Amino acid sequence: MEASEIRMDVTKLLERLSRLGKDQEGGVTRLLYDSAWKKAQRFVASAMYVAGLEVTFDEVGNVYGKLAGTDEAAPSILTGSHIDTVRSGGHYDGALGIAAGIAALSDLKAKHGIPRRSLEVVSLCEEEGSRFPLAYWGSGNVTGSKDFEGALEARDSEGITLREAMFNAGFDPLLYRQSRRSDIGAFVELHIEQGEVLQRGRFDIGIVSAIFGQRRYFVEVQGRCGHAGTTPMNIREDALAASAEMMVWMRRAAMQTGNGLVATVGKVDVVPNVANVIPGEVRFTLDIRHSDEAALDGFCELTIKAFSLIAKEMNVLVALECWLSELPTLMNVELGEAISRVCDRKGFSKLPISSGAGHDAGLFASVCPTAMIFVPSKDGHSHSSEEYTSPAEVERGTEVLTELLHTLAYGEEAT
Ligand code: HGY
Ligand code: MN
Ligand code: MN
Repeated sequence: MEASEIRMDVTKLLERLSRLGKDQEGGVTRLLYDSAWKKAQRFVASAMYVAGLEVTFDEVGNVYGKLAGTDEAAPSILTGSHIDTVRSGGHYDGALGIAAGIAALSDLKAKHGIPRRSLEVVSLCEEEGSRFPLAYWGSGNVTGSKDFEGALEARDSEGITLREAMFNAGFDPLLYRQSRRSDIGAFVELHIEQGEVLQRGRFDIGIVSAIFGQRRYFVEVQGRCGHAGTTPMNIREDALAASAEMMVWMRRAAMQTGNGLVATVGKVDVVPNVANVIPGEVRFTLDIRHSDEAALDGFCELTIKAFSLIAKEMNVLVALECWLSELPTLMNVELGEAISRVCDRKGFSKLPISSGAGHDAGLFASVCPTAMIFVPSKDGHSHSSEEYTSPAEVERGTEVLTELLHTLAYGEEAT
């Protein structure tokens, strides 16, 4: 059978992707440029080829599958998502948008032939920030909307630099800026909701109106190690006790702020982490998000001030480093209305929804009309092996994506 006639099935693609990076906890771990990542990108490239698409890797390892259009001058319509995961993440976060994009393009090619505008699906190399202290390495380079100055020297938990990891995966670190594109006319990302709003309201499809802004910090608290038995409480410089006060303060402040603000401490390292030694150093992470930029700014400022006060009271030093800052981003209204019309034609219930999770679509929105389609996540589980979206829900999302891409690439509807 001619490769170009093989229709790709989204559920089968997802099943195959799930096996690439499966870990002992039953989740999936695919980190930028690691072996599971390489296997997954090679699998995606082969699936795109079998679907009859022109396959290319760019300079940072994004994989594109292209269905060239008759109007070569028209900017491409791009769909896709990220191939990387959080550590022991779920089977759908990112992977769904890639699998559905390949299935959609193979379906459109088989049914409608060559489009007027080129259609492309991309497997973006990195979005999560799981390995290196940076995120959106894929979409940030394609859109040119991230300043990655110095990024190549960023080190992972084993001390490997991004430069080394990139080189060892077969990409020339000096060429990363060449992955920038300026010929993208629209970007549409199908993604799981990662919350339970759609499930609770029994909606089939979420039409994303906005993506929350987010700030991620490394916090370092410097105290003094001491003997747990011989050091009186009033003269301790206890880095962990001070950190605990900071964490409790932040949670209480976030609860009082309400209005959708979320603040999380996800990772804590204690030194020396020994039962009978007063901790001399603690490093922990902050992840703060809100739909409104001023509210996000205000809460972060308050947090920094509060942490300094607590440090002073507890006779320790504190330093915060903001390593990720994304503004709240609006999705394109016309594309959202086009998605709504597709849902109506198909009889799918739909809900306008904002996203507390960050997405590559948030970066594409700065360079072209951008939209996101959500499908439900069972009980809101995500970033864990419990992440689940049923085959019927996956199919519905893929159908909506396919029909929207048809409108954009075969129809006369300009975006
Ligand atoms: O954490 C997030 O917002 C997404 O999973 N990158
Ligand atoms: Mn994620
Ligand atoms: Mn994601």
